[in-house]
Amino acid sequence: MKKESNLIINNPKKLEGPINIPGDKSITHRAIMLGGLSDGTITITNSLLSEDCMRTLVAFRELGVDIQINGEKIVIVGKGIQGLTQPKSQIDAGNSGTMARLLSGILSTQSFDSTISGDESLVTRPMKRIIEPLESFGALIKSSYGKLPMSFEPPTSMKPIVYHSKIPSAQVKSSLILAALNIKGESIISEDIITRDHTERLLSYLEYPFVNDKGVITLQGYKNLVAKDIEIPSDISSAAFFIVAALIKEGSDITLNNIGVNPLRTGIIDVLLEMGGNIKLVNCRTVCNEPVADIRVKHSKLNPVNISGKIISRLIDELPILFIACATCNGLSLIEDVGELRYKESDRIEAMEHGLRELGINIVSTENSLSITGGEFIGGIIDSYGDHRIVMSFLIAGLVSLKPITVLNTSNIDTSFPGFADILIDQKIDLYSI
Ligand code: S3P
Repeated sequence: MKKESNLIINNPKKLEGPINIPGDKSITHRAIMLGGLSDGTITITNSLLSEDCMRTLVAFRELGVDIQINGEKIVIVGKGIQGLTQPKSQIDAGNSGTMARLLSGILSTQSFDSTISGDESLVTRPMKRIIEPLESFGALIKSSYGKLPMSFEPPTSMKPIVYHSKIPSAQVKSSLILAALNIKGESIISEDIITRDHTERLLSYLEYPFVNDKGVITLQGYKNLVAKDIEIPSDISSAAFFIVAALIKEGSDITLNNIGVNPLRTGIIDVLLEMGGNIKLVNCRTVCNEPVADIRVKHSKLNPVNISGKIISRLIDELPILFIACATCNGLSLIEDVGELRYKESDRIEAMEHGLRELGINIVSTENSLSITGGEFIGGIIDSYGDHRIVMSFLIAGLVSLKPITVLNTSNIDTSFPGFADILIDQKIDLYSI
């Protein structure tokens, strides 16, 4: 389907059969970055060539790395940890917080000047969470009051990083790990709540020597990354839209093949199982140090749920679609400790609250929680706040709405899930653009 900015969905039909989900966004960013820092040629398969990941790819080309795209394959000729060169112009991270924060770690240790900026959403997102720790170990960073654009000067001397992060953020942790690769001496990085560990898993796969003791990462800089081909699992965050779709749409029975089921990402499956979802993981295996499975999902009657605490970081990106699932249940769901949602591509608490209220759902928010009383969606016009996950969540809501749902400003789907609308169309679901 061609890029449109408003989509209407109205659906009497169930979802069936196998559905192909594209590659994992978090892992694609990291594979391009670590591939560029490796000591040889790496072919990455099932990579996600979405707008976010393309920003990382283009940035690494600007940093002097030879990268070719061949279908869904990416071929990277790594330059080694100290081989990057100065970009000719400012690097544009577009909509991608992951790229901006991870790349900042890499740029803060280079012997050249560089600058990163981003789109109107990204320049409002907090960067202090990486600036403060990086600066305290010697990085020279200028920012716009803790936000993008950020400029990096070559540090005069950089100490090894010894940092315990209080924010549950894989982006903060990974930014510091990537900086530590290019700092002489032993860095030790840890966090209060252990977040997704794709950086650590990929470092091990590429044979970078380090110790991970229950989430405390100890590593020496200036070692080597061995060039090995990387196969990327399909993205559980994208799969989550169709898992919820099949659960809430009567008669549905789908299989999602080759999905990454890293235990630090599968909170959504745990919660949907607790709600009564019929979800089965089969053919469980390990691919390039990441757990992978095929997921079969059948329509189920879901019950309301209460969640809070440590599980939140294991489903942080799936919360918008989980709120849709909660809004279809008979009863009250309470989701607490989700204040980080206010700092995503949009304020996702506000965006979901407005959208669900428009659909007739009773919803109450605080600074870091939401309570949702399930009911029937009456249809309506939804402001997506230009956020890909808000767009896709409300399009899925359209599968069970009494009247059509129109979602405004939907082209941002391509940030993480190009082909999302085509899957709906292949499933013979009525999707119109206006
Ligand atoms: C990501 C970490 C999470 C997540 C984001 C991707 C990553 O962000 O929301 O979509 O790839 O490291 P935070 O680290 O800000 O929680």
